[in-house]
Amino acid sequence: MCGIVGYVGSRDATDILLEGLRRLEYRGYDSAGIAIQGADGILIRKKVGRVSELAALVDQKPVSGNIGIGHTRWATHGGITDENSHPHVGGNGEVIVVHNGVIENYALLKDKLTALGFVFRSSTDTEVVSHLIAHHLEEQTRLGADPENPKTPLLALQLAIKNLKGTYGLGVLFRDFPGMLVAARCGSPLVLGMGKGEFFLASDATPLKPHTDQVVFLEDHEIAVITTSGVEVTHRDRGVTAPSIHVLDQSDDEAELKGYAHYMLKEIFEQPNTIENALRGRLDEDAATSKFGGLNLDTRQLRQVDRIVLTACGTSWHAGLVGEYLIEEFARIPVEVEYASEFRYRNPPLSDTTMVFAITQSGETADTLAAMRESQRKGHPTLAICNVVGSTIAREADGGIFLHAGPEVGVASTKAFTSQVTVLTLLALYLGRLRHMSYTAGRRIIGHLRDMPQTIQQTLKCHEQVQEVAAKYFSAQNFLYMGRGYNFPVALEGALKLKEISYIHAEGYPAAEMKHGPIALVDENTPSVFVIPRGAMYPKVMSNLEEVKARKGPIIAIATENDSRIAAVADDVITIPDVEDYLQPLVSSIPLQLLAYHIAVQRGCNVDRPRNLAKSVTVE
Ligand code: G6P
Repeated sequence: MCGIVGYVGSRDATDILLEGLRRLEYRGYDSAGIAIQGADGILIRKKVGRVSELAALVDQKPVSGNIGIGHTRWATHGGITDENSHPHVGGNGEVIVVHNGVIENYALLKDKLTALGFVFRSSTDTEVVSHLIAHHLEEQTRLGADPENPKTPLLALQLAIKNLKGTYGLGVLFRDFPGMLVAARCGSPLVLGMGKGEFFLASDATPLKPHTDQVVFLEDHEIAVITTSGVEVTHRDRGVTAPSIHVLDQSDDEAELKGYAHYMLKEIFEQPNTIENALRGRLDEDAATSKFGGLNLDTRQLRQVDRIVLTACGTSWHAGLVGEYLIEEFARIPVEVEYASEFRYRNPPLSDTTMVFAITQSGETADTLAAMRESQRKGHPTLAICNVVGSTIAREADGGIFLHAGPEVGVASTKAFTSQVTVLTLLALYLGRLRHMSYTAGRRIIGHLRDMPQTIQQTLKCHEQVQEVAAKYFSAQNFLYMGRGYNFPVALEGALKLKEISYIHAEGYPAAEMKHGPIALVDENTPSVFVIPRGAMYPKVMSNLEEVKARKGPIIAIATENDSRIAAVADDVITIPDVEDYLQPLVSSIPLQLLAYHIAVQRGCNVDRPRNLAKSVTVE
C-alpha cells in the first residue's frame, strides 16, 4: 500500500505534493511526509497521522522548493511512529527515499549495511533501500566515477535494486544532484504526469488529474530520471525506452463529496447511476443477450470454456461468489471462486478450456495481480473485471470488462460491488445464451436488468428505516448475518462492511449452517440480520430465523415489502423491492451497506478512513 507523489518543475512543490497526498490517502493514512529540495538543500517534514496533520506541521515549519517527493503510509514493517514515517534518509543525507511495497530480504540487507557502518534510525524495510543506494553511491565515487555526472546516481540506484527482493515503487532524491527525481518500479504501481516544463510522479493517476491528462504508466523494472528538461525511462533489460503516453479521461474526477457527509454515503447513493453505467451499451435486445467490447475471445473460444475460475480479494471476492451462482445457473459452467492470495501459490490445475477472471475494483491489489500473472504464466488468457482504467491489472489482462463506476473513494467498497455483480450477471447471460439458454429467457433477463437502476433507486428509500435500526443496535458487540442461495454472499458482504467501518465483530454465514456453530453465539445481545426476501429460499430461511428467535436472539430482517409474515416474527424489518432471486444481491446488499454506515456513524468511527485498512492493498 502507501501512496507516493513527486514533483519537478518551476512551481513550489509543497502544496502540489500535499494535495497529491490527500488524493492518495485512501492507500494508507498511518503517517505522511514530504521532502523538498530548495535553497537550503533537502528538508523533510513527516508526522504520524493524516495529511492534514502534516500540512499543519508544514504551516509551522515551512519548506519550499521546486522539486520534492511525498508519501502517505500504511504500515507494514515497523510501528506507526514519526521515525518510521517516510521519507527515509540514506547514508549521511545523500539519498532521500519514499517507498511503496515490501522488501522481503530487508533483515539480511540491514545486517550487511550495519556491518558497513550505516546507522538505522527506523525499523522499516524502506530505510534499507535508502542506505543501500547511499552505499552504492559511495562505492561509485570510490571506484572513480565522476561525482558530478548525473549518470552516477542512476547507476547507484540500478546496482542497489539488483539486491532487493520483494516489491517497490520508489521515489528518490539525491542531495548532491539537485533538480533530479528518480523513480523505480517493481511490483508497485507508478505513474508519471507529463506537464509543460513540469513533471509529476504518483502511485496512481488521481493526484495528476488537476495538472495534466498526459501520463506514462511505468512498467516493472523501469527507472525514470525526471528533471525539468524531461523524463528518461530506462528498462533493466531493454535499455532506454520511448515512454508511451496515455491520455487520461478527466471527466471522472469526482473526488468531491457533493454535499454528502461521507464518500461512502455518496457512493451508496450513486448506485442507480453506476449500475446503469455498467449496463450501458451492453444489452442486445434483438439477440436476447449481452455484448462486451473487450473480451478479446471469439465465440468459438468462449463456447469451448468448460470451467471458470474467478479470483479476487475482499469485497470483490464476495462479488465473485455471486458470480458463481449466476454463471452456474445461467450457463451451466462449473465455477470456482478463489482467494487470489491462495490461488497464486496453490498451483491449481487449469485445463486449456478453463477461463480465469480477476475481479478487482482498483486493479492494483497485489495478490490479485499475482494470481492473474500466475495464470498468464501458465499460458491462460486471463481476463479482468475492473473499475480503474489504466490500472496495472487492466493493462496486463488479456481482455476484460470495465465497471465504469467512477472513482470509489470510501475505503469500504459499495458501488464497485454492485457494479461487479451487474457485470457478472451480464457475463452469465452472455455465456448462457452461447449455450442452452432460450431467446425468451434471455429477453426476460434483459427486461429485468433494464429496470435495475430504477429498482435500486426505490431500494434506497429504506434509508430512514435503516437509520432507526442502526440507532437501536449500534452498541451491540457482535452481529450475525445470515442468508441462503444468492443471499449467502450478501450476508458475508454485509458482515464485512460492518467489521470494516464500525469495528464490531460480525460473522456472515449460510443461514442453515448456523446451527453447526454460530448459533452458540446467539443471546439477547447479539442481533442476527437475516436476508430473507421472498423467493425460492424464503421458507428455508424462515425456519433458520425461527431457530434464532427461539433462543431470544434479536432479529433484523431484510425482507420484501408487504411481507406480513416476517413483520410478525422479526424485531425489526427493513424492506426492499420484490425482484427475481438472481437479482436479489443487487438489492439486498444496499440496506446492509447503509446499516454498516449508520452504525459506524453512531459509534463515531471514521467511516471513509477506517483504522488499519487501505483502499488498495498493493502489498502481499
Ligand atoms: C482492500 C479494500 C477492500 C477491497 C479489497 C480488494 O482490502 O479495503 O474494500 O474489497 O482490497 O480490492 P480490489 O481493488 O482488488 O477490489
